[in-house]
Amino acid sequence: MCGIVGILGGKSVATDLVDALRRLEYRGYDSAGIATVENGHLDRRRAEGKLRNLETRLIAEPLSGRTGIGHTRWATHGRPIERNAHPHMSAKVSVVHNGIIENFRELKERLTAKGHVFETDTDTEAVVHLITDGMQNGLDSISAVREALDQLRGAFALGIIFAGEDDLMIAARQGSPLAIGHGRGEMYLGSDAIALAPFTDAITYLEEGDWAVMRRAGAEVFDRDGAPVTRPLVKSVASSLLVDKGNHRHFMAKEIHEQPEVISHTLSNYLDMANGRVSIPDLGIDLATVPRVTISACGTAYYAGLVGKYWIERYARVPVEIDIASELRYREAPLPEGGLALFVSQSGETADTLATLRYARANGQRIASIVNVRTSTIARESDAVLPTLAGPEIGVASTKAFTCQLSALACLAIALGRARGAISEEQEQELVSALIEVPRLISTMLVDETPYVELAHLLSKARDVLYLGRGLSYPLALEGALKLKEISYIHAEGYAAGELKHGPIALIDEAVPVIVVAPEDDLLEKTISNVQEVAARGGQIVLISNADPEKIGCELAAHIKIPDAHPLTYPLISAVPVQLLAYHTAVLMGTDVDQPRNLAKSVTVE
Ligand code: F6R
Repeated sequence: MCGIVGILGGKSVATDLVDALRRLEYRGYDSAGIATVENGHLDRRRAEGKLRNLETRLIAEPLSGRTGIGHTRWATHGRPIERNAHPHMSAKVSVVHNGIIENFRELKERLTAKGHVFETDTDTEAVVHLITDGMQNGLDSISAVREALDQLRGAFALGIIFAGEDDLMIAARQGSPLAIGHGRGEMYLGSDAIALAPFTDAITYLEEGDWAVMRRAGAEVFDRDGAPVTRPLVKSVASSLLVDKGNHRHFMAKEIHEQPEVISHTLSNYLDMANGRVSIPDLGIDLATVPRVTISACGTAYYAGLVGKYWIERYARVPVEIDIASELRYREAPLPEGGLALFVSQSGETADTLATLRYARANGQRIASIVNVRTSTIARESDAVLPTLAGPEIGVASTKAFTCQLSALACLAIALGRARGAISEEQEQELVSALIEVPRLISTMLVDETPYVELAHLLSKARDVLYLGRGLSYPLALEGALKLKEISYIHAEGYAAGELKHGPIALIDEAVPVIVVAPEDDLLEKTISNVQEVAARGGQIVLISNADPEKIGCELAAHIKIPDAHPLTYPLISAVPVQLLAYHTAVLMGTDVDQPRNLAKSVTVE
């Protein structure tokens, strides 16, 4: 949520700042901007909208300077217009910020009374005036920042440069991630290591409350009390990760097609394929006696967690509580002594999930997380991590991260089941064999996308679309609806098939497509009854199933055939058609598939 970069370079940094911002655009794309110290003065270029608008601006009005900061914005305070775009600045200081300054109104009032003139609607501008005020009162740059930091409440990552200081940048972290990159006679700052990958793989991650004084010769890091601290220098693997679309038109398409490979990588991490066994890392808790598992996550990751709940309850017979992170943390849920709290997150930085993790820790839970970014805050604050090996996911709508999360969750459910004796060794082998088949089965569904292109014509004309599923397919109905609405902007709802008659059936008429996720499992008969209820009211049914359509006993608008598989794996298999339906509908409608409006990839604000 907002990306920030900074470079203390050996030559003009504008081009490199834009290059780094390109790798951070997934964090927000409402506006972008850079500021540099040019002949001792601060100057900036900003542009509303995508980064390419800033690039066009820079061609017309280049910016020189060897010291600079940059920002790509996901608007929180103030509309996404150029005036509110970062960097914000006074004559003395320029600031880029990710997060929310919660006490900005109070600060603004105080500073306005002292004569500071605010020009934007942002919370960030309060930081600029606060530091400027300190400097006007005679403090040097570092002391002014230090004093300002003590007065800020909320979550922030900051990058700060100063007029007349060509060899100084200050970074500060409280609640939002920040990485310092070490180069040869150059230093870098970024919201994540991927942004810095073209420049360096030597990274220091700031910890909560840290702030750093960066100069070309290196960085000194201090904790929130101002004591110097040493943070480890780690080698980032981000530089080796290729972040391009390959032969695909969109990152989302590429990531959908990568699923057989990345699911296979993730499964290999947790399966002893030769012996048909599951082998997950030690979670530091006795799986045989854990009284309850509490799962929490947001959005798509939450739907993965919901499938995990069904699997763990079915195969391990352990009670599972699940809630979206923004609710669990505030409803003061009692958590049982010795319980396992499990967090699912692609980015590992989602603010609500992280806050819930801390709530669970404070309430005596053992913390495990399923994360894609191993260096993330959620991973670092967990007692045990089950990584997903999806690689960087750039499309804002999550696809391959979801199926990799499911892969890790399935392995965890089997491991729990074995530890408790709820499943036998033979059953474990059967389930492992089923999982091993998944990458191959998914590949068969990616060969021909024509049915989805055709169906896109039906969905793109709809005002509302319903998704139905029962049991393990219910979370897939929710995920299908989320995918469609976030990238095509068509209103869609996912419902448990059995719940339809308790209200949503009132919506059904000839204009409402109803997508039914109904693989051939022990719940199929029940779902068929619900499908017939829809047919009786004229709804246009699109069936995603391996069952013979004859069995459904009513007319279908379309049948998307999925391969026969073990019931354990249907959520993984059914994920692909719901992703492709959303993707092709969005492409037909001409929306911005990889960067849909109003969204950002990494949601680091509450
Ligand atoms: C939807 C989507 C979001 C994320 C959610 C959690 O396609 O991507 O709903 O799943 O914002 O993000 P992470 O997994 O990074 O915690």
